[in-house]
Amino acid sequence: MSRERIVSGEQVTPEEDKIQLSLRPKKLSEYIGQKEIRGKIEVALQAAKKRSESCEHILLYGPPGLGKTTLAHIIANEMGSKLYATAGPALQRTGDLMGILTNLNDGDILFIDEIHRLSATIEEFMYPAMEDYKVDFVVDKGAFAKVINVPLKRFTLIGATTRAGMLSAPLRDRFGLYYHLDFYPPEELKEIVIRSARLLESEIDDAASETISIRSRGTPRIANRLLRRVRDYADVKFDGLINEDIAIKALDAEGVDTLGLDNLDRKLLEVIIQFYKGGPVGIEALAATLNEEVDTLVDMVEPYLLKNGFVQRTKRGRMVSDKAVKHLGQILPNNSDQQSLL
Ligand code: ADE
Repeated sequence: MSRERIVSGEQVTPEEDKIQLSLRPKKLSEYIGQKEIRGKIEVALQAAKKRSESCEHILLYGPPGLGKTTLAHIIANEMGSKLYATAGPALQRTGDLMGILTNLNDGDILFIDEIHRLSATIEEFMYPAMEDYKVDFVVDKGAFAKVINVPLKRFTLIGATTRAGMLSAPLRDRFGLYYHLDFYPPEELKEIVIRSARLLESEIDDAASETISIRSRGTPRIANRLLRRVRDYADVKFDGLINEDIAIKALDAEGVDTLGLDNLDRKLLEVIIQFYKGGPVGIEALAATLNEEVDTLVDMVEPYLLKNGFVQRTKRGRMVSDKAVKHLGQILPNNSDQQSLL
């Protein structure tokens, strides 16, 4: 099972989806972490409000689960505006987008998740919409084709992406504000776990919230999911109170180890060590050996492993670090390929 399917919610029951939504902060003041970004967003929103203008277009980028969607909803809430949410792959025809854009009012927010996956046609259609609040819409075909110029209201586009590098320069340049969300330190994740436990009316002690935060791969969405698994475990096997011992047992049972690596993380590291003698190995070969999509590895798995020095990226591919080899209790086979790279 790919991590994408787990985190994007397909494997999650509607009840769990509802819980996840209920844990989302609704105001900037409730949002924990990303202090610098919060400060900048606060200034941008206050400036727009003071001038009675709509906010400039905003690009949020960073690994999944760090709060891009949550921030978009918070921005809409703080501006007192409506939010329309869609995603890059869902926008196939200009007609789809035309319907959405012409229904937006002044100050409304259009949130496009995975904006790096917009088709070139849709992307070009967006340029005048973003820059001049108008669209050039082609009606009819062949000799009867006409371009009609449709004015739009002053909406705000919030784009979210895990891959800012895949955005074309003309699209990127049309965002006035861009913010990079980075992984959260354990102290902030701990605060998020404590807040979520309070909202779920679960009793959790300090050490247990720390254990969950350390094993959450720097990601609030994972912290909240692990909290719910630990809460299930405490409710079913004990009396509901979550202490450190119960948190450790529940997380071990989930396959989440002491540094937060899950089965797929460990499998990826083990494959590089055992199949490719520690690397270097290209991402396509790695994905094929693991029977996973390249995008799943690049978007979901690698960022945390790179950030924490388990994997290194070289010109010739991915390599594991000593830290990863030691953590997995493995011994690296002899590999002459590595000498020239280190
Ligand atoms: N839930 C998920 N992300 C959060 C955050 N950054 N602050 C508070 N609660 C959250």
